[in-house]
Amino acid sequence: MARQEAGVTEAQIAVHWKEEECLTPSVKFIGQAHASDPSILQRFTEDKFPECFREYADLLTWDQYWHTTLDTSNPPFWKWFVGGKLNASYNCVDRHLEQNRNKAALICVPEPEDEEDRVITYQELYVQVNEFAALLRDCCGLKAGDRVTFHLPMLPELPVSMLACARLGVIHSQVFGGFSGQACGDRIVDSGSHVLITMDAYYRNGDLIDHKVKADQAAEHAERNGMKVDKVLVWQRYPGKYSSSVPMKDGRDYFVNDLLTEYRGARVAPVSMPAEAPLFLMYTSGTTAKPKGCQHSTGGYLAYVAGTSKFYQDIHPEDTYWCMADIGWITGHSYIVYGPLALCATSVMYEGVPVYPDAGRAWRIAERLNVNIFHTAPTTIRMLRKAGPDEPRKYQYHFKHMTTVGEPIEPEVWRWYYEAVGKGEAVIVDTWWQTETGGFIGTTLPALHPMKPGSCGPGALGIFPAIYDEEGKEVEAGSGKAGNICIRNPWPGIFQTIWGDPDRFVRTYFAKYCKNKDSKDWRDWPYLAGDGATQAADGYFRILGRVDDVINVAGHRLGTKELESASLTVEEITEAAAVPVLDEMRGRAVEMYVALRPGLSPSEEIATKVSKAIEDIIGKIARPKHVWIVPDMPKTRSGKIMRRVLAGISNFADPGDIMTLANPEIVEEVRHKVQAEKVAIGEVPRELSPEELEEIKRFGNVD
Ligand code: WTA
Repeated sequence: MARQEAGVTEAQIAVHWKEEECLTPSVKFIGQAHASDPSILQRFTEDKFPECFREYADLLTWDQYWHTTLDTSNPPFWKWFVGGKLNASYNCVDRHLEQNRNKAALICVPEPEDEEDRVITYQELYVQVNEFAALLRDCCGLKAGDRVTFHLPMLPELPVSMLACARLGVIHSQVFGGFSGQACGDRIVDSGSHVLITMDAYYRNGDLIDHKVKADQAAEHAERNGMKVDKVLVWQRYPGKYSSSVPMKDGRDYFVNDLLTEYRGARVAPVSMPAEAPLFLMYTSGTTAKPKGCQHSTGGYLAYVAGTSKFYQDIHPEDTYWCMADIGWITGHSYIVYGPLALCATSVMYEGVPVYPDAGRAWRIAERLNVNIFHTAPTTIRMLRKAGPDEPRKYQYHFKHMTTVGEPIEPEVWRWYYEAVGKGEAVIVDTWWQTETGGFIGTTLPALHPMKPGSCGPGALGIFPAIYDEEGKEVEAGSGKAGNICIRNPWPGIFQTIWGDPDRFVRTYFAKYCKNKDSKDWRDWPYLAGDGATQAADGYFRILGRVDDVINVAGHRLGTKELESASLTVEEITEAAAVPVLDEMRGRAVEMYVALRPGLSPSEEIATKVSKAIEDIIGKIARPKHVWIVPDMPKTRSGKIMRRVLAGISNFADPGDIMTLANPEIVEEVRHKVQAEKVAIGEVPRELSPEELEEIKRFGNVD
């Protein structure tokens, strides 16, 4: 309905799409690829489901083999590999020792260029994971099923902490290091963690950032909200030296490096966990202010990330693989830590900013370490391109394979990635997936499918996507018409539930298209991804972006409600609306519209307070590009704020039909003020493409 009112029909949008030309990988790549024989596609056809995923599970070492591949008795709470038992830390570490104990598991590159890499072999990883696991068990009393929150930066202590928890069956919940103390505190409360693991400081853009200060804020915020943090374990950026300005709290805060002296040489037997035991929580944003703790399983998840790392990342034992994501996001969990380590790969991690101290940094790392598989996000690609379009040429590295993930990539940016970064030699996989999905769900198999700039490709092996319209009818496959992309079947990597809120899990992801809620047949329970998409005649999907109230900033999901609630903590503000605005670097940026309490007049100071509140409550990444103080919000007669109208104004696009508003006159007033100011500072966007216009018209979902 909304779409038609806005004057564009789905069919019309489709007509505007320009088909990109496909490229094929080199013969050299195909010759060495894991999946170069098309018979693999036959092994994963729909009639082979769910047994096809045995192939992924068989990449793992099981303590006890499972008896049921997929149990659908309680939809949509699917259980994979039922009856099976395994340990994730054993699978990522111990089992590699016999043949590869001296192989580098992790190569950790500090941001300061004069600091040495930390190369951690599988043997060394084994030692560190065991000692830390012993500490967690004996000093913190942690046992299988307990939750622990981490607020750790991109340093090896993070994967060590993850694997130590996994060894004990303890559920870890890593909060992105850049998030605020308060955001961390909220996640401590939601997950029910009594232990917080953090670090005193880390480098970002040349500064040693005080991070422990956030741990104090997190623990205090959690305590105010009913969750007492008993212990804060503090890793040190420089072992033996404290690099934070805030005091250690007696009886609560402990230096890990001090405690570890008691556990030198300790070994902890990996706890054999049921396949469906939770491995970790990863919080992500949705339509309400409360973030969702996506719960991932041990067996299904690990099998899925191992399988997709093998076939899609094409990781071989001799490769040096670098995923330049943060482990605080799902990409790092699946494709820096669990997937690559399960395959006994060498995984590179980098502490800092990709363009610090200059635009050549990433390429120097690649050259020095002989990285041959590279994995990053469109926002970083845009940043690298802007900072130094000709930089890659200056360095002697050769990638065989590159990944893009996290947001739609513009074909133009894709081509720079291919030609400049990949030097025309590397195959690209554009991997579409989500925190919820555990691993890739839409992508090409690099040796078997041609690449098409801007399109992720077909469904991944054993994944059967379909696009539905608002009424639940399947949009004709390959028709190029837009709709809501869903996955028709369960798969091992899908999250198990939202921690503590199974109803929200069912409501958000399954209720819309569930054909029969009493059905035990998975065919009746398509998974709603929350993205708009089209499918071209060749079967490739093109992801248009979120259809819910989520703004994807530089590949990070920010909920409009979270941004709005944070703004409302400023006492002068009565109403707030968050909208996306096109941003050359970050894909989308946030603009806030706020209205003041009666009697107050707009001021720069209030706008700054709003920005600051968002930064304190969510984190720097959420800082709005502008805060517009407006006399009133455009509203429906029932009082709902029309975000799409504001999004239209911010992007210099048609705000759509406003005749149904309760206060249509406000639109012109706001438009004039905002756009005049933007013009004054030279901030007029380029002409929007039909799909961008469509995204803006659709935004906010209130009509
Ligand atoms: C978007 C990140 C286009 C999409 C792994 C999805 C993408 C959201 C792609 C999930 C891609 C992710 N092309 N869009 N290749 N990959 N997205 O949970 O909107 O942080 O729903 O997971 O990012 O973001 P999340």
